[in-house]
Amino acid sequence: MTTPSKPSDDTRAHVSLTTRLSSLTARLPARVRDTVDRYLEVVDLMREIKDPRVARSLGPSGLRGLILHRGKQGEPTLFQARHRAYFDWAYPSDHPEMAELYRRAKRGQWDGETYLPWATSVDPMNPEVPILPQGWFDYAPLEAAGIKLDGAEEKRFRASIVAWMLSQFLHGEQGALMASAQVTEAVQFFDGKYYGATQVVDEARHVEVFHRYLDTKLEKLYQINDNLFVIIDALMEDSRWDMKFLGMQIMVEGLALGAFGTLYKITREPLLKQLLKMVIQDEARHVHYGVLALREHITKHLSDSERREREQWAFEVALLMRNRFMAYEVYEEWFEHKISRETWRTFVTQAPGMREFRHVMFSRLVPNLREIGLLSDRIKADYDRVGLSRYFGGASADQLTAEKMLSDLDAGAGQYSPGQAA
Ligand SMILES: [Fe+2]
Ligand SMILES: [Fe+2]
Repeated sequence: MTTPSKPSDDTRAHVSLTTRLSSLTARLPARVRDTVDRYLEVVDLMREIKDPRVARSLGPSGLRGLILHRGKQGEPTLFQARHRAYFDWAYPSDHPEMAELYRRAKRGQWDGETYLPWATSVDPMNPEVPILPQGWFDYAPLEAAGIKLDGAEEKRFRASIVAWMLSQFLHGEQGALMASAQVTEAVQFFDGKYYGATQVVDEARHVEVFHRYLDTKLEKLYQINDNLFVIIDALMEDSRWDMKFLGMQIMVEGLALGAFGTLYKITREPLLKQLLKMVIQDEARHVHYGVLALREHITKHLSDSERREREQWAFEVALLMRNRFMAYEVYEEWFEHKISRETWRTFVTQAPGMREFRHVMFSRLVPNLREIGLLSDRIKADYDRVGLSRYFGGASADQLTAEKMLSDLDAGAGQYSPGQAA
């Protein structure tokens, strides 16, 4: 299904101001250098956006997330949600596939309190039951920068990364809870409203179980990553239901499925493995629903100009997710001012586990974009430029069952395929 990539693919989209100016910024004092790097990253993000409508959509969210760090102020965030609630007093049976998903969702409900083995003792430092395998990272870039972790530090570092990943999953699930409630109001299919209500319950359960795991097992919670905040902010503020759908059901859910799948495949910790298995089964339905709702809308009801805007928006969000999920919160905790942010990016980008993560994520996401009509020839060149064209031909969510996804992951459990990474 996929062909091996060249290592340079990972960094192509980083030929950016941060990289080009790195020899200049390297001479600055560490604190100034890190601040300059942060701002150059924002400039890079805005330079990548070609469509002014996409800039208007993502720009204010970028300001709130990347500059003002609104998700990190230690207080609740209020978003102005502006969408229309669509009522239909005729209660039509208008979408048989969504009706079937609704039936499956009702049968697939589970109780997060009683269904998972919460009595399991979890010790992220126990080498007998690793949450992440030792080979997840290649420490050479850190060592070249003078950082050498001893055995205990390396285990603590991996525990930090696991807590960071799960914290971002949790924050993404909160976004999914809010967005699924909004799209249930806004969607025009009545069978979609029935189905959407089950997704709201699913997302509440996901928030519940991820939070409980972090709170009682890892005893650590990281703040929301600024880039994830940008995406959630853009979805909440956009009044168009299909943009909320596209952002949440296709992009963020696609990311989640990839991330959950990667972690499910490699973790040896039994409680987390069971938790992820249950969540993956729900998420597969959510992405399937997103494909059903958007395929018809985008291919039949939108103008070419509207399609072009969504195509560009999806591409920019895909880049945001790929290049900018750099776990800076962990960097700040461990290495801020000791190594440059550029060295950290190299370390994260080249880590075998992170490469695997991106591979699974994009093999889920890109075929869904094709299926809903957002992968026309004009945008394919952009995906090709950033090394993502190898995913054009994969199976989309409506062709994949959760059982098939899980059996594929089980078949590959314990193996890395870093050569295939995005
Ligand atoms: Fe979820
Ligand atoms: Fe979901």
